[in-house]
Amino acid sequence: MINLIIFIVQCSNLIISSVLASGVSTIKVGDRLDLNSQLVSTDRRFTLGFFLIPETCSTYLGIWYTHDRSSTKVWVANRSTPIKSSSCVLMIDHRTGKLIIANGGISLVTISDNQSGASPNLTATLQDTGDFQLKNEFDNQILWKSFDYPSNVLLPGMKLGWDRGTGHSWELTSWLSDTIPDLGAFTMTFDAYGETYRNILIRRRGLPYWSKNVN
Ligand SMILES: *[C@@H]1O[C@H](CO)[C@@H](O)[C@H](O)[C@H]1NC(C)=O
Ligand SMILES: *[C@@H]1O[C@H](CO)[C@@H](O)[C@H](O)[C@H]1NC(C)=O
Ligand SMILES: *[C@@H]1O[C@H](CO)[C@@H](O)[C@H](O)[C@H]1NC(C)=O
Repeated sequence: MINLIIFIVQCSNLIISSVLASGVSTIKVGDRLDLNSQLVSTDRRFTLGFFLIPETCSTYLGIWYTHDRSSTKVWVANRSTPIKSSSCVLMIDHRTGKLIIANGGISLVTISDNQSGASPNLTATLQDTGDFQLKNEFDNQILWKSFDYPSNVLLPGMKLGWDRGTGHSWELTSWLSDTIPDLGAFTMTFDAYGETYRNILIRRRGLPYWSKNVN
């Protein structure tokens, strides 16, 4: 009897977990976005999906302009943790409420670090701005957003800088090479203090490389 109940619970977990059809903008708890499907923002400007870098046999999750023929990535998730597995899915972990990339139910990369907690009302949506947001639909709270973790492209609506309260910094980081998205040597950020000090800063391996006062 106990075995039977466990079997039913496991089966129902499998049944509610469905692979998404391409073209929608949102995943819900229980949805899986696999290597062959993509999210598209409601206005169709942006597409989110997995892409493979053949040189290194690595897979990444990225965002690009839908109509860009070369699919230049405007955002890449967890660039220092490429996925080496040949199959993986993007999903909201129903146990933790985190946005993860998983293979066979095992988490490979945790994309959202927030301790949001599990809720059946979590969604992850590719917005018309190109921002990918994990949200609790119940209270409309945004728990994580890709705009807080810029890659090497500044999109309208993104910001660069530093939050002195939380220590969070928004900065751009170059790719390792033209074709490999892993973290490269250059970072760019914005540093402001009061009315007079506003600087765009580029660092090379952490050391000042170029700066421009933009008062
Ligand atoms: C993945 O990226 C998130 C930010 O979106 C970060 O908080 C987390 O630590 C990263 N995880 C790894 C394994 O790099
Ligand atoms: C999820 O949302 C529904 C209404 O849309 C609400 O009735 C339910 O309590 C919510 N669940 C949680 C855990 O927030
Ligand atoms: C989640 O993290 C963001 C920073 O990335 C922060 O602004 C927000 O308050 C956090 N939300 C929760 C619920 O912890």
